[in-house]
Amino acid sequence: MSGIVFFKTQSLHATKKFYLNKLGLKLWLDQGECHIYAHDDMLIGFCKAEYSSTQGTITFLYDSQTLVDKAYTQFKDISTTAPKLNPKFRIYHFWGKDHENRTLEFQYFLKPDEDIEYRNPIEILNPTSNKPKLLLTRMLPQNAVDILQKTFEVHANLAQRALLHNELIDNIADKHALLCLLNDRIDASVIEPAKCLKVISNYAVGYNNIDLEVAKNYGIAVCNTPGVLTESTADLAWALIMATSRRTVESDVFTRCGKFTGWEPLLFLGQDVHHRTLGILGMGRIGKAVAQRAVGFGMRIIYSGPSEKALDFEAEYVDFNTLLKESDILSLHLPLTDRTKHLISENELKQMKPSAILINTARGAIIDEKMLIHALREKWIFAAGLDVYEHEPEIPSELALLSNVVLLPHIGSASLDTRQKMGTLAAENAIAIITGKDAPARVI
Ligand code: DGY
Repeated sequence: MSGIVFFKTQSLHATKKFYLNKLGLKLWLDQGECHIYAHDDMLIGFCKAEYSSTQGTITFLYDSQTLVDKAYTQFKDISTTAPKLNPKFRIYHFWGKDHENRTLEFQYFLKPDEDIEYRNPIEILNPTSNKPKLLLTRMLPQNAVDILQKTFEVHANLAQRALLHNELIDNIADKHALLCLLNDRIDASVIEPAKCLKVISNYAVGYNNIDLEVAKNYGIAVCNTPGVLTESTADLAWALIMATSRRTVESDVFTRCGKFTGWEPLLFLGQDVHHRTLGILGMGRIGKAVAQRAVGFGMRIIYSGPSEKALDFEAEYVDFNTLLKESDILSLHLPLTDRTKHLISENELKQMKPSAILINTARGAIIDEKMLIHALREKWIFAAGLDVYEHEPEIPSELALLSNVVLLPHIGSASLDTRQKMGTLAAENAIAIITGKDAPARVI
């Protein structure tokens, strides 16, 4: 911890409610009349003083501009300004107020090489006047960029970061096509000013980042990249299954630290995978590919989902509760929708075996992350393997501190071949719609 800021306050109860519930800070010390909260690297203290209160400034520091934007979305109701750059001090920030009118500042110091607001990160790769314009929100493997340039004048984000939401809005007005990533939020604020837009081609199979209703109302096609990433994502789910069950990440850290002093009967005891029960929630393309790999491990396979499937391997269709109760390893392969959000929460985690392992390579918000942290801490289940997070890219520090979880940075489809295939498909989708043909993978 780098320091502590202390404030007098009138109602500790209201303060606690605000800082714990609203801002999500952790209670670090509770001494009755005095509370100290932890936020990243900083401590904030409050002590009760009935007739006085201090009105200083509490500053929350973030590691990136994107995180400040995220905080703004979350705390919009307490903010007094919108996020913006102060060029003099190179601080990107917004201000807010707490319940006792103290000033809160949410900020990020721009590094010397970041000139975000001075320079639009979008550059035209192939200036021409006779092609439709495509906005590419992040550079893709070169094969996709080459294909796109044949049909489009490509306006690409060449910065080493995702586009900010307002940069997306600022650059969309004259574009005929948008090729975006799963972390670009494509909602009404982007779609409404896009007067020429015909197609949104998502560089992902999941499309929960796009407001389909709004796109449909404006007659804009939405496409995705199914199929090409199935096997790579299934491989990665298995990497998580093996890592969590046999505790390979913990063991690697231990070995590198020089702690291996000889064979031990009780060192890093994990769970067997072979001949155990693999539960698949969502037996779609990726669910099937994960299950198929389990045949080689002699596993019993059970699955649950909207309907029973015709499969070319042995698997039993069971109801959701049976799946939770009987799976030794439960792997999630559902899209994120209003119905699947927090599908795995307290009740579901409590039904799982204490030796069970939960794997998520789908979308983070399918799991109630706070509850999962609780479940892992209290050992309701043995371990979890996660490639995705509820508020990506934020990962709660409580999760990162646990040893019975393996955390990956959303790399399910991240093999060179697969990312190239996704690029080709995303480019072909955009081209097909613009040239009036059937797109290979159209959602709406
Ligand atoms: C997807 O495509 O939806 C994956 O999450 C990333 O490849």
